[in-house]
Amino acid sequence: MSKPMDLPNLPATVHDVAPWRDRFLQWLERIYASPTIYKWSLLTPFTSWITKRRTQQIFDLMAGFVYSQVLLGCVRLDLFRMLQNAPADIKQIAQRVGLPEPALQRLLLSAVALKLLECRRNGRFGLGPLGVPMALHTGIAAMVEHNDLLYRDMQNPIGFLNHAWKGSMADYWPYAHDAQAATHADPEKFSQYSDLMAASQGFVVQEILDTYPFANHRCVLDVGAGKGRFASELAAHAPHLQIKLFDLPPVLALASENIRSKGLTARMALHPGSFLHDPLPTGADMVTLVRVAHDHPDDVVRQLLAKIHAALPSDGVLLLAEPMAQTAADGQTSEAQTDAYFHFYLLAMGAGRLRTPQELMRLMTEAGFSDVTRLANRLPIHAQLLVGRKT
Ligand SMILES: C[S@@+](CC[C@H](N)C(=O)[O-])C[C@H]1O[C@@H](n2cnc3c(N)ncnc32)[C@H](O)[C@@H]1O
Repeated sequence: MSKPMDLPNLPATVHDVAPWRDRFLQWLERIYASPTIYKWSLLTPFTSWITKRRTQQIFDLMAGFVYSQVLLGCVRLDLFRMLQNAPADIKQIAQRVGLPEPALQRLLLSAVALKLLECRRNGRFGLGPLGVPMALHTGIAAMVEHNDLLYRDMQNPIGFLNHAWKGSMADYWPYAHDAQAATHADPEKFSQYSDLMAASQGFVVQEILDTYPFANHRCVLDVGAGKGRFASELAAHAPHLQIKLFDLPPVLALASENIRSKGLTARMALHPGSFLHDPLPTGADMVTLVRVAHDHPDDVVRQLLAKIHAALPSDGVLLLAEPMAQTAADGQTSEAQTDAYFHFYLLAMGAGRLRTPQELMRLMTEAGFSDVTRLANRLPIHAQLLVGRKT
């Protein structure tokens, strides 16, 4: 490991497991390990579904890489867009993608097994329930292609833990490990990640616009605004708002073209700079921080939140939205599998980490925000939302 990493405190409840619960978990572990109980569990209707589900879960963990590669194969052959509203048989598909039918059939049947495709009449293949979003949202396909970098870095997971931040993912994100990247890194790198962010931001933007009412604000400053996708959609959603964008100079150069092409120049102001070295522009009564904090270590997040606090007027609001740990403070959750992805993604990227909503709320409070609360949104898998007020 080339740089020091944050070692956050585990939730208090992890240190503080009640003695009875500790004994119970130990007992449960022995039950799981007993061959007799395993056999019995499969014979009893009340328990057989649990055992079958666990078996499937273990199988899925083991096979996850194959599932990802089936998805990537379909994306690279553009099968989802090809078959949308136009089911085709294997001969037609083989001709279009230039693969031998016997091999292609394995891919198509695997995609059917994963509900990405479906078998239709006369031996044709059409989109399955999970193939439809793949065809509709280019951002998901872009992330599937991008994850190939992460999975290459993680080929040897133990080696990766010793050398994280040195692979192709770290190289992809210039600012994550170089505070001066904006002044000397290849501009193409900024363009590459900004395109990916704009493509993948749609679901996050939807969560924010569906959850937070912007009616009472006059001017919003989006920090880490990227190419301005959120800013543009916010402008359409709340036509009374003025919007300021802050990001690194090479990124805002791209945003500027984007905003001009959408005819939004009069409502948007661009403020190129680095929140590591420059103050933030004042004049906005609300700051949005979308998928930015998780890229940075705690000391940078503290600095950034302090700058946001300083830039806001009294009664100004900070809205922070990003994927957050879904594992609750007591370690129990139904959706925590996504945590594993983000822990490793952010480790490979360079500097930040996945934080719990509670950790981020604490950082916001330390920076001076009050009434810090979490807003319930429909799909926390895309992002969770926190707001705080400067009083
Ligand atoms: C993960 S991207 C998210 C972009 C956008 N908010 C979104 O959700 O798609 C993080 C953004 O923060 C910007 N950023 C990173 N370090 C920065 C810094 N020191 N100063 C200003 N912007 C920075 C990056 O250029 C990038 O646009």
